[in-house]
Amino acid sequence: MSDISKQAVAGFTDVAASYDSTIAAEVEKYCGMPYAEVLRRALDAAAVAPGDRVLDVGTGTGALALAVAGGTSAGRIVAIDPTRAMLEQAQQNAARANLAERVSLCCGSAEAFPFRDSSFDVVLTSMAMHHTDVRRTLGEMARVLRPGGRLAIADVSRNPRWKGLVGLLLRAAMAIYHLIATRSLAITRAELATYHQIFAKADWETMLKEAGFQSLGVTEFPHPTNSWFSGVVLVQAYRQG
Ligand SMILES: C[S@@+](CC[C@H](N)C(=O)[O-])C[C@H]1O[C@@H](n2cnc3c(N)ncnc32)[C@H](O)[C@@H]1O
Repeated sequence: MSDISKQAVAGFTDVAASYDSTIAAEVEKYCGMPYAEVLRRALDAAAVAPGDRVLDVGTGTGALALAVAGGTSAGRIVAIDPTRAMLEQAQQNAARANLAERVSLCCGSAEAFPFRDSSFDVVLTSMAMHHTDVRRTLGEMARVLRPGGRLAIADVSRNPRWKGLVGLLLRAAMAIYHLIATRSLAITRAELATYHQIFAKADWETMLKEAGFQSLGVTEFPHPTNSWFSGVVLVQAYRQG
């Protein structure tokens, strides 16, 4: 696993118990889009069809996988994450929603999925890509998707004002906000480590192509009120045959 993801595991282990009570406010504050809308956009972009085998990558406490289970007639739904403490919360959320039997939780990394080639029809993910080595993860997503299978990614977008030292300082300032809000040094370090895995639209287009995807669209939603913060990026693609 990459150092970025190792730091993420340490960070999310530290905040797992409080994650569900803070994530919506954090996403809206730092990315400018309601968290529920981020999940809905990812789900819509994935266009899950009846019987589809679906993989939620970096599921955390399971929000997106549970939205798939509750809102579609997908077949097998697998939700993967390397942070056990987040998966424990996901397990509880699934039980509470009476969806535990529909979602298989799996502890593992997107950078080396424990799944066979072409074993999913849909891969989707929300707010997790930047905690991984994105190129490696895209390569693995392409490997486990069947040819023609769909990819939907919602993630933090890169602000064009983040350049060189200015960008790093901005990210550091956001990390300090984060530290005050979460009181977790581990998650603050993890967020700081993601700086080079937050990409602009043109980078996504290139990386998708390199990994063997045909892009169906990379849409950026800049922060509506803070021109220095990140926004949200929505990526839609399918695996070329
Ligand atoms: C901000 S949370 C997002 C969780 C959830 N998808 C959501 O929308 O609330 C990021 C998640 O990425 C996970 N993560 C970090 N490295 C990963 C990796 N290599 N593979 C898969 N997930 C990873 C973390 O453990 C964490 O649960």
